[in-house]
Amino acid sequence: MIRSRVIGCGACLPANIVTNDDLAKRVDTSDEWIRERTGIRQRHIAVEGEKTSDMALGAAREALIDAGIDAGELDMIIVATTTPDESFPATATVVQSRLGMTRGAAFDVQAVCSGFIYGLSVADSLIRTGAARTILLIGAETMSRLLDWNDRATCVLFGDGAGAMVLQAHDGVGDNSDQGVLNTRIFSDGRLHDMLYTDGGVSSTQTVGKLKMQGKEVFKHAVTNIAAAIVASSQAAGLEIGDIDWFVPHQANQRILDGTARKLGIDPAKVISTVALHGNTSAASVPLALVTAVRDRRIKRGDLVLLEAMGGGFTWGAGLIRW
Ligand code: UT7
Repeated sequence: MIRSRVIGCGACLPANIVTNDDLAKRVDTSDEWIRERTGIRQRHIAVEGEKTSDMALGAAREALIDAGIDAGELDMIIVATTTPDESFPATATVVQSRLGMTRGAAFDVQAVCSGFIYGLSVADSLIRTGAARTILLIGAETMSRLLDWNDRATCVLFGDGAGAMVLQAHDGVGDNSDQGVLNTRIFSDGRLHDMLYTDGGVSSTQTVGKLKMQGKEVFKHAVTNIAAAIVASSQAAGLEIGDIDWFVPHQANQRILDGTARKLGIDPAKVISTVALHGNTSAASVPLALVTAVRDRRIKRGDLVLLEAMGGGFTWGAGLIRW
């Protein structure tokens, strides 16, 4: 059986850091409120002219070096993003050109904060069916461009960045001992549109709009849906929650991470959290957290790693990887 093995990963964050105290100078908020209600201490924000593709490219280059391959060996590039450089073409094609890749295919996936899990699901399917051997998957966002910087309820939550992984076909025996993606599970419920959306878009207002969120409602659904996705993915592999070594969640709010862990009886020491340093970077948040834990050697070859996310749509999902 063909498995998609992760052969390298990388990350890129804008150099510009914005602290809670910096935000307290712009809107009526405080470092204390933001830390207590979200766990966020700072976020990286792209400066003027710094685009999603710049960060995607930075993460991609690091992932290719880590994988020990060059761009010519890639069959596909998938970029998960809600904040493309342009309405078209896909940001993935910009990355393709800047990497000097002249063959294969490149396209974007849009599932907001769940984008990386959706991208993983697509990449894994393409590899397992033999349509591609090597895929570069990137989650990259400049969420700062969608924020109303006068709305304290949302502007303190988000940040910019990118994370990437290279997946490659590899022979497995078809059970949980295989290295690579064991399964992915993706879900959506379009009836919940109004809880998290932008009040603009190409075909409606011809503007990008600003992010609108009913925070409390999103919070409740996040804990329920993420827990359900974790259970769906682990059950599909015939595993108990306790068998999983590391949980790499979407980084929206430390209280969501804690609430989900409590609900499922997950040991909090197994949950990777970077929300304090990055804030919510949407599709970039899962790979940024993953890369952090791989680089500091918490996640090691052979470990069972469960990635999970939830975002606008609503969309949500999980993916289980034997590292
Ligand atoms: O990535 C997609 C998924 N997104 C999420 O998962 C976000 C989910 N939601 C959340 O993380 C939380 O709901 C928030 C962090 C957005 C808000 O936390 P909360 O505990 O639900 O607070 P709240 O919205 O109920 O607001 C409590 C109070 C309100 O004041 P009153 O009405 O009690 O007087 C808000 O106006 O806190 C006020 N408030 C703030 N105060 C200081 C809201 N934002 C701020 C702020 N600074 N930045």
